[in-house]
Amino acid sequence: MAGRLEGEVAIITGAARGQGEAEARLFAQEGAQVVLTDILDELGQQVADEIGPAALFLKHDVSQEDEWQRVVETGVNTFGRVTILVNNAGIGLREDRGIEQTPLDAWHRTLAVNLTGVFLGMKYVVPAMRAAGHGSIINISSIAGMVGGGGLPAYHASKGGVRLLTKTAAVQYAEENIRVNSVHPGGVDTEILNPFGEKWKQRAVDAHPMKRIAEADEIAYGVLYLASPEASFVTGTELVIDGGFIAR
Ligand SMILES: NC(=O)c1ccc[n+]([C@@H]2O[C@H](COP(=O)([O-])OP(=O)(O)OC[C@H]3O[C@@H](n4cnc5c(N)ncnc54)[C@H](O)[C@@H]3O)[C@@H](O)[C@H]2O)c1
Repeated sequence: MAGRLEGEVAIITGAARGQGEAEARLFAQEGAQVVLTDILDELGQQVADEIGPAALFLKHDVSQEDEWQRVVETGVNTFGRVTILVNNAGIGLREDRGIEQTPLDAWHRTLAVNLTGVFLGMKYVVPAMRAAGHGSIINISSIAGMVGGGGLPAYHASKGGVRLLTKTAAVQYAEENIRVNSVHPGGVDTEILNPFGEKWKQRAVDAHPMKRIAEADEIAYGVLYLASPEASFVTGTELVIDGGFIAR
């Protein structure tokens, strides 16, 4: 039986670890060729090596416009086309503590990676998808892009921005067979949470009706669905994967 992504070529940002790594491994299992990108080059190369010849790692900072051009070009030159983009790379900074407490540079850095990075990814991948005749873009937002919280104002603003940027792109490219959707994970057990400490993590666990946070694979399966032809009539939507957090 053919894989669910047979013949597709995906760029996945922030793929050296966490959710991006899980998506890269799952997509390759389902028959896709995958371009993994990250600023963590040793870890990213290791994951790509483990996946095998269907994977390529490129060092890439998503906030840099010229680097996006190179990533898309290399993807097309290596695998012949690019048909899927997962804008997954993201940061959450400890200094992003509250409106009065957040230094301006932490605000700018968060927006540059989490929101500008998503804009640039879409800007440079769309021509390649147009040439391929179809495409699916999945932008990783968060439950923090749907509801406010007690801190992390830059993070919430960036993820809220991703939500509406996604819908805007979905409408612009709907007639070109390029679908654009956002995914809104609840807490996920990955490195991004570690700087906030064990107490914070326990509070996150308690805040989810399922009384746990997700494993990266539980998000990756949702991203796989949106990437696959099974989601051929799905665009501009929000896939919430949060153990009931938003349902309260
Ligand atoms: N873990 C959670 O609780 C959670 C919840 C909701 C949404 N998210 C979002 O999911 C996405 C994946 O995060 P994760 O949970 O796997 O955490 P993670 O920290 O393990 O992974 C994020 C990856 O992005 C990479 N990255 C950071 N800045 C980059 C840059 N400028 N250019 C390229 N790569 C960069 C990191 O090196 C890392 O490999 C992020 O967008 C995050 O905001 C996470």
